[in-house]
Amino acid sequence: MDVFASTEGPESDGHEQVVFCQDKQTGLKAIIAIYSTALGPALGGTRFYPYATEAEALHDVLDLSRGMAYKNALAGLDLGGGKAVIWGDPDRIKSEPLLRAYGRFVESLAGRYYTACDVGTYVADMDLVARETRYVTGRSVEHGGAGDSSVLTAWGVFQGMRAAAEHAWGSPTLAGRRVGVAGLGKVGKHLTGHLVDDGASVVATDVNEAALAWVRQAYPQVDVVSDATALISSDIDVYAPCALGGALDDTTVPALRASVVVGAANNQLAHPGIEKVLADRGILYAPDYVVNAGGVIQVADEIEGFNFERAKLRATRIYDTTRQILQLADAEGVPPAVAADRLAERRMAEVGRLRSIHLR
Ligand SMILES: NC(=O)c1ccc[n+]([C@@H]2O[C@H](COP(=O)([O-])OP(=O)(O)OC[C@H]3O[C@@H](n4cnc5c(N)ncnc54)[C@H](O)[C@@H]3O)[C@@H](O)[C@H]2O)c1
Repeated sequence: MDVFASTEGPESDGHEQVVFCQDKQTGLKAIIAIYSTALGPALGGTRFYPYATEAEALHDVLDLSRGMAYKNALAGLDLGGGKAVIWGDPDRIKSEPLLRAYGRFVESLAGRYYTACDVGTYVADMDLVARETRYVTGRSVEHGGAGDSSVLTAWGVFQGMRAAAEHAWGSPTLAGRRVGVAGLGKVGKHLTGHLVDDGASVVATDVNEAALAWVRQAYPQVDVVSDATALISSDIDVYAPCALGGALDDTTVPALRASVVVGAANNQLAHPGIEKVLADRGILYAPDYVVNAGGVIQVADEIEGFNFERAKLRATRIYDTTRQILQLADAEGVPPAVAADRLAERRMAEVGRLRSIHLR
């Protein structure tokens, strides 16, 4: 496998560092990828997932770590981008020794990489990792951690949606708009609450019956539809993908009735070029990594000693960042996804360059 070649895509400067970690006794096989430390230590979660092949695990970690560099840059954090994957089935191999072995590898990077939760890892796991390394966030509240990051993720998505509403209709509110929420998980639930409080009418869907039962009980005024296909073809103003990645593809985009898309899900654009299809249809898309940065803002705050109000204030600024990106997109005649990338690259270059001013 050629790691150097696979980090040199046309849009990539390549990763700074990719570390393979193995501990045979515990079954640990992990890859830590640091895309950039231009703005500070790389921060990104650890995904614990049964990839079919090592190549698939490597591909995912390279992709995700690059995405974190852009997300952290636009979140205004002094943090670079990194990510880690542990290759294996967490239900079968996750154990205290494995997580602690992993923690020792994180420690070995001496602060170039901070880890956190991701798919397959939870706050209790980070508490174990933290017994071997200082460079971990996403810990439990009892250990000074930020707790459930979906709280500020949803808050940030709501702020991004307010900015998109202002751009589309002139006023930063969802009052009187119909919003379709696909996925009533941790983020979707909080988001539904913010939307209802703001005076929006909400229609929602989920594949999980318990999630639907929750919304019927908590918010009886929310309409429920059978699936995401029914949701996107219903009469909605805003579509909020809050389930899995790839929600915007060659089938869904032509069927979409909404004129604005803002949601929590990571990697909503199924393939490069789909942002152009959205723009050509006149659909305003607020880039996922901009609006869903509230979670990383929440856990990053742990590095300073967690303060919810400070983190919330920072997540509230997602409104300003989204606004700026939508304006830049108009000014430069490019889709917002392209404008967001440009802004992130500008911050990495301009602020990152300051490190060339020598300090003792
Ligand atoms: N939790 C965070 O802090 C955070 C931060 C940034 C991004 N995200 C992203 O936001 C999304 C939601 O995160 P979460 O923490 O709420 O996850 P979650 O697992 O709690 O919720 C996801 C929900 O989507 C539902 N779902 C799955 N497939 C579906 C489908 N085809 N149609 C409708 N519903 C479906 C699931 O049943 C579940 O209720 C994910 O893409 C995640 O990567 C989350």
